[in-house]
Amino acid sequence: MADVNAQKRQLRAAGVVPVLTIDRTEDAVPVAKALADGGLRVLEVTLRTACALDAIREISNSGLDVLVGAGTITCESDVGSALKYGAQFLVTPATPAFLLSELAAFPGLVVPGIATPTEALSLYDHGFDVVKFFPAEPYGGASTLKALSAPLPNISFMPTGGVSFEKLPSYLKLPNVAAAGGSWLATPADIQAGNWARITELAQEASDLVKSLRPG
Ligand code: 3PG
Repeated sequence: MADVNAQKRQLRAAGVVPVLTIDRTEDAVPVAKALADGGLRVLEVTLRTACALDAIREISNSGLDVLVGAGTITCESDVGSALKYGAQFLVTPATPAFLLSELAAFPGLVVPGIATPTEALSLYDHGFDVVKFFPAEPYGGASTLKALSAPLPNISFMPTGGVSFEKLPSYLKLPNVAAAGGSWLATPADIQAGNWARITELAQEASDLVKSLRPG
């Protein structure tokens, strides 16, 4: 059984979560290593490609010191598949009622997607206190999360969707942001081209920013 509180601490310490769309299984470990070399060790692999589950299994079995999760969980069977292939945490883009019982039974951290305060509070009532704010930028970005901090003080957010390096400081300065997610750190194009050095550089830049904005 995973220590969910420890995973929440890892998420906050990471500050940034690369969102990965992987088209070839053989790219999974090199991209995970490139990101870990740059200091980012919490990785979300989206279940949007035929090899996504295999990619999760490869990363999970690689011995790399990373936390690998499955994203784009959109149906109940995704939860069991993700667990079977070694996903340590789950992320959903949205959280309709039909997903709730499967998500609640997952033995690791679950970061369910929300876009409104009502959805956030409803999920909190179901026991989820870290939620993904998606799509973050179209739904008002950091200023929306700042506005939610007073009425929803016990909920932390992972904003994802339209987040860039330039926008990171506005999110990381908010106490109710656990971490920000985004695909800019390892784009599908950079993964396909095997641009591992560039991915490490982008990860390092983001992880340095996290350290400078959240010292200690
Ligand atoms: C996604 O699920 O696609 C993520 O939210 C990534 O969004 P981004 O590509 O805008 O970073």
